Amino acid sequence: MKTKIVNIEALDEAALIDLEAAASLIRAGGTVVFPTETVYGLGADAMNPQAIKKIFAAKGRPDDNPLIVHIAGLDEVKPLVANIPAKAEMLMKVFWPGPLTIIMEKAVTIPTEVTGGLNTVGVRFPDHPIAQAFIKMARCPIAAPSANRSGRPSPTQGKHVLEDLDGRVDGMILSSDAELGLESTVIDMTVEPPVVLRPGDITLAELREVLGDVEVSSNVTQNVVPEKVSSPGMKYTHYSPKGELVVVKGAPEEIREKITRALSHHKGKPMTIGVLASDETMDFYREGFILSLGSRNDPKEMSKNLFSRLRTFDELGVERIYAEDIPLNNETLALINRLYKAAGYAFI
Ligand code: TXA
Ligand code: MG
Repeated sequence: MKTKIVNIEALDEAALIDLEAAASLIRAGGTVVFPTETVYGLGADAMNPQAIKKIFAAKGRPDDNPLIVHIAGLDEVKPLVANIPAKAEMLMKVFWPGPLTIIMEKAVTIPTEVTGGLNTVGVRFPDHPIAQAFIKMARCPIAAPSANRSGRPSPTQGKHVLEDLDGRVDGMILSSDAELGLESTVIDMTVEPPVVLRPGDITLAELREVLGDVEVSSNVTQNVVPEKVSSPGMKYTHYSPKGELVVVKGAPEEIREKITRALSHHKGKPMTIGVLASDETMDFYREGFILSLGSRNDPKEMSKNLFSRLRTFDELGVERIYAEDIPLNNETLALINRLYKAAGYAFI
């Protein structure tokens, strides 16, 4: 199929015409990629099961993995859910529009294709002017996963979307790079205390400030505390670059030594090697492709860059990537969660 691609930076008159055309593709049951503040999304009419099936086909996504439903106004939540828990309403007031997906009991009208057969639905009101205008113009809630081929790093730039989905979707709205670079925080509000299923830019500390007690899914804690990983050798395919990614752990000097030693082992051998370092440490390494994730003092910058750096290693043809480990704290939980998943929990 030929994908209709438009570039929109600002919501001027020409942009509104392009947006209207993209919205009409959605109303006709098609698929359209659109920008959000987290990552690009691949959208379709959430109330149209045939349209939803096209999302799964374009991504190559297993059909039991539920999609997030995107809205562009607080009044759009009610028709999607069986009820709005009081605490969920508090979250909406504080964090919406923004990078927070709230899981609630679903309304019977939501197709099971959207929720992967679950009786809950994740709802998100993105904080992005183009996303909001697009959803409004479509006049329907928009189900959208990240706009990558299943298993690949989520797309934070227009070129990533083109790489993965050109020719596989009906339309694309391309724009500036995603501001945050990691997907939204997902919180399950159907249980008490609420449980964070996926960490993101809205941190655990921020959620606890509003809700009091909040738990973190064991899937996430197992992620970041390697001793707890049940089967470290297990082959996950989340967010993965084409090269083999390994996270290097230890005190800062130990990390440098381990990577330097690994690089010297590879010297003179045909394998292409890369290092995912930081602004503060990148000059230390002398072999291979060295990329910085950003400053160690700026977790937001590092988060914004992670997925695009993984794709850059692919472009460079890097076959093995050594990534420096990142110290765990409230601000780095989401970043570490994605990095470890991308590495399939391979550590040295
Ligand atoms: O930032 C984001 O959330 C982006 C942008 C496009 O909004 N979307 C995104 O969607 O990351 P996706 O499909 O790549 O990730 C959705 C995550 C998945 O891990 C899915 O399992 C979980 O949310 N999820 C969705 N609905 C759920 C539900 N009802 N119960 C539990 N988990 C759910
Ligand atoms: Mg995704």
